[in-house]
Amino acid sequence: MTFRKIETVVIDYDNATELPENYQQLVNQAKSALENAYAPYSKFHVGAAVLLADGKIITGTNQENAAYPSGLCAERVALFYANSQYPNIPVVAIAVAGALENKPVSFPVPPCGACRQVLLETETRYNKPITIMLAGATKVTLIESAKALLPLHFDEVFLLPTG
Ligand code: THU
Repeated sequence: MTFRKIETVVIDYDNATELPENYQQLVNQAKSALENAYAPYSKFHVGAAVLLADGKIITGTNQENAAYPSGLCAERVALFYANSQYPNIPVVAIAVAGALENKPVSFPVPPCGACRQVLLETETRYNKPITIMLAGATKVTLIESAKALLPLHFDEVFLLPTG
């Protein structure tokens, strides 16, 4: 039997203003998007802003449904929109922010497992790491790649006969 240790590096910023200008802008766009969330059931609004390699920013918000599983998280709304509108432009970064009952949450909102899987697929598709920024009211946690958020991930390699 052997043990394997899997480490993840995350970078915590006390204040979003410590980030480079273009990332600050991305965080601000994720926060501004919060008002467009449709979350009448959980009251938990999530905003995501995706930065494309050409500088375009696409935002998305969570969209809930009375049939609960039919809803979708903000990250996937933004990523799927970006990937379907601009399939040839790589995604380079994403910022995520949250608010409960219209009050911005102080803690950085971590993406759910399904969103991590979609982030990973996007990273693999464009062969480029995606910088992930999880924004609290003032602080930001930055992760340099979707792979870091999903150890032992499932990807296209397992679908090959040699996988
Ligand atoms: N949600 C997101 O949009 N993104 C996340 O990263 C976590 C959760 C949404 C799904 C649901 O609409 C609400 O937050 C409560 O789970």
